[in-house]
Amino acid sequence: MISNSAVELFQQRETPFYHYDLTLLKGTIDSVKSLAKQFDFDIHYAVKANSNERILQELRDAGFGADCVSGNEVKLAAEMGFPVDSILFAGVGKTDKEINLALELNIKAFNCESIQEVEVLNQLALAQDKVAEIALRINPNVDAKTHKYITTGLDENKFGINQIDLPEFILRLPEFSNVKLTGLHFHIGSQITDMKVFKGLCLRVNEIQNWFADNGVQIEHLNLGGGLGIDYNSPDKNSIPDFKTYFTIFSEFLERKANQKVHFELGRSIVGQCGSLISRVVFIKKGLNTSFAIVDAGMTELMRPALYQSYHQIDNLTSSGEEAVYDVVGPICESTDCFGKAVKLPETKRGDLIALRSAGAYGEVMTSRYNLRDQNEPLYTN
Ligand code: LLP
Repeated sequence: MISNSAVELFQQRETPFYHYDLTLLKGTIDSVKSLAKQFDFDIHYAVKANSNERILQELRDAGFGADCVSGNEVKLAAEMGFPVDSILFAGVGKTDKEINLALELNIKAFNCESIQEVEVLNQLALAQDKVAEIALRINPNVDAKTHKYITTGLDENKFGINQIDLPEFILRLPEFSNVKLTGLHFHIGSQITDMKVFKGLCLRVNEIQNWFADNGVQIEHLNLGGGLGIDYNSPDKNSIPDFKTYFTIFSEFLERKANQKVHFELGRSIVGQCGSLISRVVFIKKGLNTSFAIVDAGMTELMRPALYQSYHQIDNLTSSGEEAVYDVVGPICESTDCFGKAVKLPETKRGDLIALRSAGAYGEVMTSRYNLRDQNEPLYTN
């Protein structure tokens, strides 16, 4: 819930901007941290979800590691003080420059997604006279039952090495003198709300790791990726995701070997609900069959509705008038620049403050300057 004192602060600011509720962030961190400890799971925060430095500070102070997907994320995580031996580097297309940077920083491990990538990493590690730890990202062909644009673990997706290529990988492993395979990595998609999906993932991971054991390869750590969804429909009622049910599934169904470490790379579930995009209504325009509430935020600030047809709850923070129905749209010259059709809001006027909720993950990080838009600094409240 956005407090009245926060709304007073919003009144004094130029819009649009991101607002982060640090109390909620801390509460979410406490929840995931204490449960992870209970289950003996390690958390690496997925920096891509929100790489805002104020947010990263909280995650670093919580003792989480960092899961990065670019050289710049690796660099930022190290600069922000995440211990280098807690930084993982994933991604299908790591360039030589990015790999070299990560090798120089001595990060914990590379999540490798193809045999060619392992070959290149091996050469670059040899040139730096280092041995790079790797976790092999395997495409488990498990359906995450989420939006197709954020599904990553099916055969048709570009992510991970296909199971059919595993025999060749194992055969060639002894060639790679400067990489050491220590882990297996899986990430099947994001915004997963059907918990049965995670049970299916565990069962597939068990089969795959048994196959490695049968082929003489013992695995020190399993990385199950991220993906736990948040409740976009009820951000106030379900402000902290159900980490307990999520971890319980892995604890019950994953066959963990003796002394094996289990990692998760959570992004959205930790930072999603603490952020809102705050905007002002510029005009109300009567269309033929609808009223448009035209706000000063657009798809440039929050791209998710335009890209994935995603729903974000819209609150009018400054009106308590009678309910009416609006299409809430941004100012950008694209018809996809629409935050919601037929949205019920209290009577909405020019100058009202609007909050687009649950925007803490994949919001600010995905902004663009299309139409040469200004970018305002975020606001943080405790
Ligand atoms: N690990 C890997 C390898 C990933 O690719 C991702 C997200 C995560 C972890 C973190 O997943 P999370 O816990 O946040 O679900 N822009 C999209 C989401 C893209 C997710 C990319 N990968 C959206 O706005 O829904």
